[in-house]
Amino acid sequence: MDDKLQLQISWRLLLLLLLLLRSAASDSLLQADKKALLDFGAKHIHTRRLNWSSGEENICTAWTGISCDEAGTRVTSVRLPGFGFRGPIPDNTLSRLSALQILSLRSNAISGNLPESFKSLKSLTYLHLQRNNFSGPLPENFSAWTNLTAVDLSYNSFAGIIPASLGTLPNLQSLNLSHNKLIGTLPESLQKFPKSAFTGNDDSLLHYSVADSSVTPPQHRSRMSERALLGIIIAGSILGVIGFTLLLLVYILRRSDGFSSNKLATIKGSEKSTVPRDDNRVVFFDGCSYAFDLEDLLSASAEVLGKGIFGMSYKAILEDATVVVVKRLKDNGRSVGRKEFQQMMEVVGGIRHENVAELRGYYYSKDEKLMVYDYYAHGNVASMLHGKRGAGDDRPPLDWKSRTNVALGAARGVARIHCENLVHGNLKLSNIFLNPKSFGCVSDLGLSTIMGSLSPSVARASGYRAPEVTDTRRATQASDVYSFGVVLLELLTGKSPVVTTGGEEMVHLVRWVHSVVREEWTAEVFDVELLRVPGVEEELVEMLQIALACVVRAPEKRPKMPEVVKMIEDAIVDDDNNRDGEEEEEEEA
Ligand SMILES: *[C@@H]1O[C@H](CO)[C@@H](O)[C@H](O)[C@H]1NC(C)=O
Ligand SMILES: *[C@@H]1O[C@H](CO)[C@@H](O)[C@H](O)[C@H]1NC(C)=O
Ligand SMILES: *[C@@H]1O[C@H](CO)[C@@H](O)[C@H](O)[C@H]1NC(C)=O
Ligand SMILES: *[C@@H]1O[C@H](CO)[C@@H](O)[C@H](O)[C@H]1NC(C)=O
Ligand SMILES: *[C@@H]1O[C@H](CO)[C@@H](O)[C@H](O)[C@H]1NC(C)=O
Repeated sequence: MDDKLQLQISWRLLLLLLLLLRSAASDSLLQADKKALLDFGAKHIHTRRLNWSSGEENICTAWTGISCDEAGTRVTSVRLPGFGFRGPIPDNTLSRLSALQILSLRSNAISGNLPESFKSLKSLTYLHLQRNNFSGPLPENFSAWTNLTAVDLSYNSFAGIIPASLGTLPNLQSLNLSHNKLIGTLPESLQKFPKSAFTGNDDSLLHYSVADSSVTPPQHRSRMSERALLGIIIAGSILGVIGFTLLLLVYILRRSDGFSSNKLATIKGSEKSTVPRDDNRVVFFDGCSYAFDLEDLLSASAEVLGKGIFGMSYKAILEDATVVVVKRLKDNGRSVGRKEFQQMMEVVGGIRHENVAELRGYYYSKDEKLMVYDYYAHGNVASMLHGKRGAGDDRPPLDWKSRTNVALGAARGVARIHCENLVHGNLKLSNIFLNPKSFGCVSDLGLSTIMGSLSPSVARASGYRAPEVTDTRRATQASDVYSFGVVLLELLTGKSPVVTTGGEEMVHLVRWVHSVVREEWTAEVFDVELLRVPGVEEELVEMLQIALACVVRAPEKRPKMPEVVKMIEDAIVDDDNNRDGEEEEEEEA
């Protein structure tokens, strides 16, 4: 017995020891990374915002611009764009961060060569060094950086030739060497990249054609131009002298996710490729942990999420894998004044409520207005309700419980907006998302009052617009109530707000419901999916009455939003005996 116990104890000790050793080992790796960063920070004259201190705090969370792997044992990303760094990168500082994957030092004033020691950054994936004052040659041999995916070295003073090894990197998806002092011929392996990646260098770089490059190896003297010859002579002498240096600029292109490699900057509507430096501040609200600027947004891969009446929404994946929704006002928001826009954004951004999607930040310039929201992975409720369920997709249809949660959450959200004396102005099911508790959460408020008015026909076409609203700028709280009523009807009927009846005729949902209900009060109005579950009819009928009260023609006869909330709560609570405790959870907030 004793032996057994002892054995057990020593096993435990051993295990503990192993664990301790392991965490000590990873601790010391992180400590080494910290030291490397401090060395970089100390030697490098910087101007602002760098709050690295040698104290005990966790550098993974407390240091500006630094992030770590999931376990918090190594620094994997250093992002310090526009920090006013001047002078050369001290050798043997950043290069000691051997687990580094993302390095972004763009838009600083860093000069000098790329440190030769960068060749030790073997995991480097994204290298963004554009818009600095780097000079000297590019590294001769890029082969060591097998994981390199994106390299942006544009707007520097790199000189010499472009090494062919750059084109052999298996993962390189995006490259930009434009606006440097590079010369010579473009290696064939790099001719797959757009010419804009090489403009602003010596013209010889762009003088190639597919035929030339495939027939003539670069060293083929008989066909060499004077410039190319010069390039090769210079390159040759450089090759003799230099070792590895590395310049990379990267951004995320995850084509593998079925994700388009579009960037906001290149998507229709913006020809801006150069952003004035002082003008690229995205304004974030307090408590927002995002840290990126306009250039990040514009260079993020973007996917169109939807086209609304006030503009397009995009899902944008930033270089550090942050996912946000960017809403871009249509016509570049031409009709919107700076003051008006900023005031509205400040008001909207100040609303903190679990049923109102939080505006995280915004951007204003003469020809671009953007809003930044969190990304909701489940998409909007309209797509959940109406989305086509393909053959392989066995998601159940939204059940009644989920729909009442959507309705109650959205009602509370709108009530909160009204309590700020605001008008939502564009309430519809596709502007409602699910918050983490799976209650409705409304988004996209406030735009109708600052955007130019839309023609009544466009406005009405959606089926959500109250009949008295002829000018979208004149939306009122009462018209919000009407729109909310349509949302409720949509949840009850499972039909979209513009219904196609028997023939080809398009009818607004409100009219259709009225016609069915007027003729004979039948269960026909309700979504058949809802009627499959016994015992919900009473609640359905009550909700239908609430919805019909919201969509009465005379605005002054519609209930106020807080009353609507109360009615919905009552409708649900009456039947609450056989419900679980979820509602109470919701009360707390
Ligand atoms: C440094 O600044 C960031 C955000 O700017 C903050 O989250 C962090 O707590 C700060 N760290 C220290 C040590 O002050
Ligand atoms: C970059 O270098 C050029 C000359 O090499 C100099 O004129 C310019 O002022 C430098 N830019 C900055 C921001 O230091
Ligand atoms: C390159 O990326 C792959 C996949 O993410 C990873 O397994 C590998 O360790 C990376 N290579 C280096 C040298 O970091
Ligand atoms: C470049 O580096 C790789 C690996 O670091 C090495 O295998 C290769 O021989 C080098 N190529 C040249 C031309 O030096
Ligand atoms: C390279 O950068 C320049 C300047 O930002 C831009 O105009 C160009 O479109 C970029 N090219 C590629 C291929 O990304």
